[in-house]
Amino acid sequence: MLQVPIREHNNSMTSTKAVVLVGGPSRGTRFRPLSLDVPKPLFEVAGHPIIYHCLKAVAKVPSLREVILIGYYDESVFRDFIKDSAKEFPQLKIQYLREYTALGTAGGLYHFRDAILKGNPERFFVLNADVCCSFPLLDMLKLFEEKDAEAVILGTRVSNDAATNFGCIVSDSHTKRVLHYVEKPESHISNLINCGVYLFATECIFPSIRSAIKRRTTRPRFVSYPSSENLSSSFMAPEEEGEKNEVLRLEQDILSDLADSNRFFVHETRDFWRQIKTAGSAVPANALYLQKAFQAQSEELTPPSANILPPVFIHPTATVDPTAKLGPNVSIGPRAVVGAGARVKESIVLEDAEIKHDACVLYSIIGWSSRVGAWARVEGTPTPVGSHSTSIIKNGVKVQSITILGKECAVGDEVRVQNCVCLPYKELKRDVANEVIM
Ligand code: GTP
Repeated sequence: MLQVPIREHNNSMTSTKAVVLVGGPSRGTRFRPLSLDVPKPLFEVAGHPIIYHCLKAVAKVPSLREVILIGYYDESVFRDFIKDSAKEFPQLKIQYLREYTALGTAGGLYHFRDAILKGNPERFFVLNADVCCSFPLLDMLKLFEEKDAEAVILGTRVSNDAATNFGCIVSDSHTKRVLHYVEKPESHISNLINCGVYLFATECIFPSIRSAIKRRTTRPRFVSYPSSENLSSSFMAPEEEGEKNEVLRLEQDILSDLADSNRFFVHETRDFWRQIKTAGSAVPANALYLQKAFQAQSEELTPPSANILPPVFIHPTATVDPTAKLGPNVSIGPRAVVGAGARVKESIVLEDAEIKHDACVLYSIIGWSSRVGAWARVEGTPTPVGSHSTSIIKNGVKVQSITILGKECAVGDEVRVQNCVCLPYKELKRDVANEVIM
């Protein structure tokens, strides 16, 4: 009887942190052409930067007070985002720590272990910035405590065909224990896959990473992972210098070893989950976050009406003609203009873009300051529900299902653009289909 209140007391006192792995400019190449103009983690879906959705979930964990963004973008990249987020989530201390080079998903954690361990948190979440999901962090925490776990991974079921593109988890369905983990296996082992969201016990994960480093150093190749404190004093012999870029990855180097312990568990989510890898994948992510906001009756969304098919987000500074028909799953960015009689569905219209009267935009992303002419049609193709791919086969050729106009593109009046990716500053004066316009 006495144990229950004591455990509850302990829980509320147990500190938890969160790390969001944001990567750097050399990653996110599949997000081009959009990542040419904005770092992928700051690209807006459902009216907010991708990593805002991570912070929003993290902010709901009661014992969590600190979030560390780890990446290798320039220091200045996240400054404004952190300033804005600090106002929105005043209980969170948010900081960005920059890796001197890409250290990999585990290398970055290890490099900044002193910062993570500061204040002696017992556990910390790790979120890949490039996933879109409902982030059931409280469910993960519950499982972690119930099982006295070393690690909990978030998993989801995908089709057998898609599974080998991801990290696959073999688990005991009764105990939820992870028995095996294999990153992108060559043949089918399980359709329960890694969502890129973890909860680690601090006392276990760093020794696991250290063991992985040791295993490497006993092999001929040498890798150095100085801590953030002794970085400047670390010494690397000239012959080792060329090896310093070697990365350490959670997925390939750590998780399969964790499965050997019997304290690694999986929480299987039945809620939505998608990766945000290609630029086109921002469209399903936008739809899923808008639907979540709609279910939560968010006041940020535009109220439904004859011409607004929910969910729709219109930035307060955008101008939308009342005769334009929008939705479902549409986000209209700051200062964008949508003219009379226009139709926009399943699309993202970015800052300062203009959709002229009677134009039609379907399954597309209209880049910053781009123009879509009157009676023009910019369209992609819907992908099957539940698909984890943003490409489709058309006339025997693999093309992007989502049409993307980069920054400052112009589509002429009455021009039709179908399943195209258009690099920034291009002018389209004639109909185009299934092309990358460079
Ligand atoms: P695949 O999924 O294997 O195609 O690789 P990917 O590079 O697209 O993603 P990966 O699974 O390697 O990365 C998962 C998350 O970690 C993403 O949000 C990346 O931005 C981030 N990430 C990847 N490498 C690094 C790194 O070296 N340092 C940091 N801080 N983050 C990284």
